[in-house]
Amino acid sequence: MRILKTRDYDHMSRQAANIISAQVILNPESVLGLATGSSPVGTYRQLIAWYKKGDLDFSKVKTVNLDEYVGLAPDDIQSYQHFMKINLFDQINIDPSNTHVPIGVNPDADAECARYDALIKSLGGIDLQLLGLGPNGHIGFNEPDTCFTKGTHQTALAEETLTANRRFFKPAENMPRFAYTMGVCDIMQARRVLMVVSGEAKAAIVREAFFGPVTPQVPASILQLHKSFTLVADEAALSKI
Ligand code: F6R
Repeated sequence: MRILKTRDYDHMSRQAANIISAQVILNPESVLGLATGSSPVGTYRQLIAWYKKGDLDFSKVKTVNLDEYVGLAPDDIQSYQHFMKINLFDQINIDPSNTHVPIGVNPDADAECARYDALIKSLGGIDLQLLGLGPNGHIGFNEPDTCFTKGTHQTALAEETLTANRRFFKPAENMPRFAYTMGVCDIMQARRVLMVVSGEAKAAIVREAFFGPVTPQVPASILQLHKSFTLVADEAALSKI
């Protein structure tokens, strides 16, 4: 595990974007695993800026997103598919057919999850997986549990996750309670994992996840065992270690 300490959110975002840029420059056909939420937005903004300067080419890059809310259609403005379009895909030269997000409106959970895992396999696996850290230590929507999950599956969102993410829904009661998410095994099989964490509110969970025992009660803790895991976090997020 490598920890890069940054001054603040913007510095964290530039450092993470540097790592992703290097990946794309060295392998223009990279498969990138992507995340949503507030943590990676600055990273995406920086990648867009470098693309617009002519320094990055995404034309052969493929992406697989971590998760999607069950019941939300791709064009729903609250969906993660829409989030990715707005925050990244529509502003770079990626081929939309090379971008993948679980289909939240597929009512057959088993079929959708099996399809998604087969898709990741058919792409040759993930070269670099970008992650945020949930307030309860979740990665993707792998919530605290008694064992680590394997592949893509349907999950019931934990109370803490519902509380943290309700701010994105209007009205708040519209927030779905279930999601399709890649499993811990999918994430651990990525060749490199990069996590971005910012702010004092995450300091306690950063300490638990990366300086405490490896336990499914704190899903991110398993990343301590990944052979190429980089945590890019700002001073506030690292203030308790
Ligand atoms: C998002 C995801 C989640 C978030 C996490 C942190 O695709 O899978 O694990 O990364 O909930 O969210 P933010 O960045 O909003 O604090």
